[in-house]
Amino acid sequence: MTPTPTDRAADLREQLNYHNYRYFVLNDPAISDPEYDALLAELEQIEAEHPELITPDSPTLRAGSDLQPEFRKVRHPRLIGSLSKAFTEDEIRAWRERIGKLLPPDVRLDYTLEPKLDGLSVVLTYEGGLLTLGATRGDGITGDDVTPNVRTIPSVPLRIPVHPDGPRPPARLVVRGEVFYPLAAFARLNEAQRAADLPEFINPRNAASGALKNKDPRETARRPLKVFVYSIVDVDGEVPPTQWDQLQFLKALGFLEPAEMARFDDLEALIAVIPEWTARRPRLDYEIDGLVIKVNDLRLWEELGVVGNKNPRAAIAYKFPAEEATTKLLDVKFSIGRTGVLKPGGVLEPVFVGGTTITNVMLHNFDQIAEKDIRIGDTVIVKRAGDVIPYIEGPVPEERDGSERVVEVPAMCPFSGDPVIRPEGMVDYFCSNPYCPERVFRSLEFFASRGALDIEGLGTQTVKQLMDAGLVRDEADIFSLTLDDLLPLERFARKKAENLLAGIEAARHRPLDRVLTALGIEGVGEIMAGTLAGHFGSIETLARATVDDLLQIEGVGPTIAEGIVAWFAEPFHQQLIAKLKAAGVRLEAEQGAPVAVGDSLAGKTFVLTGTLPTLSREEAAALIKAHGGKVAGSVSKKTDYVLAGENAGSKLTKAEELGVPVIDEAGLRQMIESA
Ligand code: IVH
Repeated sequence: MTPTPTDRAADLREQLNYHNYRYFVLNDPAISDPEYDALLAELEQIEAEHPELITPDSPTLRAGSDLQPEFRKVRHPRLIGSLSKAFTEDEIRAWRERIGKLLPPDVRLDYTLEPKLDGLSVVLTYEGGLLTLGATRGDGITGDDVTPNVRTIPSVPLRIPVHPDGPRPPARLVVRGEVFYPLAAFARLNEAQRAADLPEFINPRNAASGALKNKDPRETARRPLKVFVYSIVDVDGEVPPTQWDQLQFLKALGFLEPAEMARFDDLEALIAVIPEWTARRPRLDYEIDGLVIKVNDLRLWEELGVVGNKNPRAAIAYKFPAEEATTKLLDVKFSIGRTGVLKPGGVLEPVFVGGTTITNVMLHNFDQIAEKDIRIGDTVIVKRAGDVIPYIEGPVPEERDGSERVVEVPAMCPFSGDPVIRPEGMVDYFCSNPYCPERVFRSLEFFASRGALDIEGLGTQTVKQLMDAGLVRDEADIFSLTLDDLLPLERFARKKAENLLAGIEAARHRPLDRVLTALGIEGVGEIMAGTLAGHFGSIETLARATVDDLLQIEGVGPTIAEGIVAWFAEPFHQQLIAKLKAAGVRLEAEQGAPVAVGDSLAGKTFVLTGTLPTLSREEAAALIKAHGGKVAGSVSKKTDYVLAGENAGSKLTKAEELGVPVIDEAGLRQMIESA
């Protein structure tokens, strides 16, 4: 008897999902590719005739549907946290000591050791065994719903257990894993890009990210992404109470896991295998940037809590030491920054180091070049530690053949032709011409940029075009542009010209702190600009301030104070301010203090670091001030809270050192609302 289409479709789905698992997860196919394709074609045929039979776990969905998902935001059931780092074996021991103090003295710990995969976190939700949601980490609280894309990844089970004999899945299971681009496939991808004269992907992580967040799931389906699953985030139902047993459980359900996972009864035994694991790294088909050590007993995770609102104390990431490679230093090129500083940059023969191909490195300053004796044509050692910017460690002198050239400080600025000078007591060299076109260009580019005056329509290219046409020589000139100036320019239709003028008009009325930021005074970033604007109320008052006046302000040290006074002492800066004033740019704070909407944060000083999920720094600072709080630029004992977001840096570390409480954006809102 021939089966009904419903039964046959169910049977095909089951077979295909099973063979898919054999192929992609176990790496042990049970049927040939043509046999698999024939089964898939048969299912596609049935589904085409009976679309009502398409189920969420149908393997045909792996090809990617043509829906264009506008990524919906989804809230994670729990915080999708991150890990604190250790860079040495002793730092791992110190971590053990720290957590030991928080646990009963006689507690014996065991640990898991896992590779730290360098990909992107994904959060997968299964309900009744079916994959119902795939989301990116986002800010840890909210992520993007990328379910159609996730469905195209063959190692992600559409239904669990994949194997009919597998364990019964919990009613709802939320797991976390890492999406990555296998290295061999990544090498092929870039080869193809090169052959087609297309830009190469920087690293496997970027390629994976682009594929996972593609608006077209069919594009994702074309990329051979994989997902390793390493933890349970949330569950309705029973799951094992240890990390190690959860890993086994996840594997039995059909999730892909790296082969290199281990459990240790003793931390020293674990530390002893680190060199061996590190040595394995080049043989793996995926990037890892360290190892993760986790307390195995998950009940202790609750007890140990989190640091900085997001890093569980019960786990730590051991980061591999800097990676290095050798390559040739082909040339040294110079650029000019917006302060006029002359910056040497090395041009390298492309080299793959620390997961990225590097072609350029900053050389910082000439003293350092001389100290390290780096010469053009040298074979050099390039290092890249973790996420740190790559740098040249030094030359390999044995490789020299005599053709190498010493790097000379140019006597003249390569852009303006004016003499290069080195002010007394400074390590840097500067172009002596305050109107050096490159310097002006960089200043204008910054002046108009988003973090500064945010002039709509005035991007890098337009700045260049206006300068080339001789219409703009300094920041103030922007404000006297007219329609007649713009219309004759290439690519400037009336609409575009009008938009730019509207953008400029809006910038004329930006608050004083934005204008101060835009001027690019050394040491005066957004926060400092806010402090100065609040304190002095106008540029004219600030311009008259002495170093002593400035030192009275919290957060202003001698370097910044002297820098500000020196800036306003420059005649061309004075002219610029006069011109901006004449052009009608607002150089005074709005009348009266900012409107206070509450005093729930009165007397509290906050320091901001990292990127917040919804507020810009400025908005966060404004919110704090509107509720009576203060915002400072650096963390000290006087700081009440550090407000930290994604990629928080040294300020977070400092806060942890000083024991300053760290809150996130949600925490801030709670403080405001619950007052
Ligand atoms: S555990 C709250 N285990 O590393 C627990 N993370 O900074 C945090 N990662 O964003 C995650 N391999 O994407 C864990 N075996 C592993 C991991 C791993 C890679 C990533 C993860 C996270 C980052 C931690």
